[in-house]
Amino acid sequence: MSAFNPGRRQWLKSSAAAGGAAAAGTLLSGTKTVADTMAAESATAAAPDAPSTMNVLLRVNGRDHQLMVDPRITLLDALRERLHLTGAKKGCDQGQCGACTVLVDGRRIVSCLTLAVMQEGREITTIEGLGTPAKLHPMQAAFVRHDGFQCGFCTPGQICSAVAMLEEVKAGVPSHVTADLTRAASPTAQECRERMSGNLCRCGAYSNIQDAIAEVAGVRR
Ligand code: FES
Ligand code: FES
Repeated sequence: MSAFNPGRRQWLKSSAAAGGAAAAGTLLSGTKTVADTMAAESATAAAPDAPSTMNVLLRVNGRDHQLMVDPRITLLDALRERLHLTGAKKGCDQGQCGACTVLVDGRRIVSCLTLAVMQEGREITTIEGLGTPAKLHPMQAAFVRHDGFQCGFCTPGQICSAVAMLEEVKAGVPSHVTADLTRAASPTAQECRERMSGNLCRCGAYSNIQDAIAEVAGVRR
């Protein structure tokens, strides 16, 4: 038998191998096509749409600002990045340090935990709107007099918080340490410390901060 005339067994082996390879090729190429299609579909499904924006009117420090914003932007980021009011600081961005405190309709809030679109139409006051370098708010002046800051990072939040905190006391809002809920709270050192406990100071300027607040509240520490 010549080399070009293989026996039946040899021929069957070759055919089986060739057929298997062809079948595998078909299968693989089929699998690849399906996989490609699925990948393409899931890429299309996962591709985020262009973020939609919303028109919002923010009234900050007595001025109206019409902004197109991503509805997910926090008030803190809108103030700092869109309006360039960088007084309110981003410390933790989780509502735990108070560095971003601003006033909304006279009440203190941590601006990292609220969306800008939620504050439309409200009166927002930042440290820049409390006073000016030429005419400081009494709380700002007291912080300067009592040296109530070191690095100053927490200071805008401390001052905004202190201003609103004294208003809360005046309005009779009780705190965790108010002993007698039937009588008006007074801005004692203990009350002020408790009510300011949401504002952290990494420099530890607490003692001088308390002196400044006590002076504005008109009480002795
Ligand atoms: S940055 Fe908002 S509470 Fe810390
Ligand atoms: S003065 Fe530095 S964190 Fe308070």
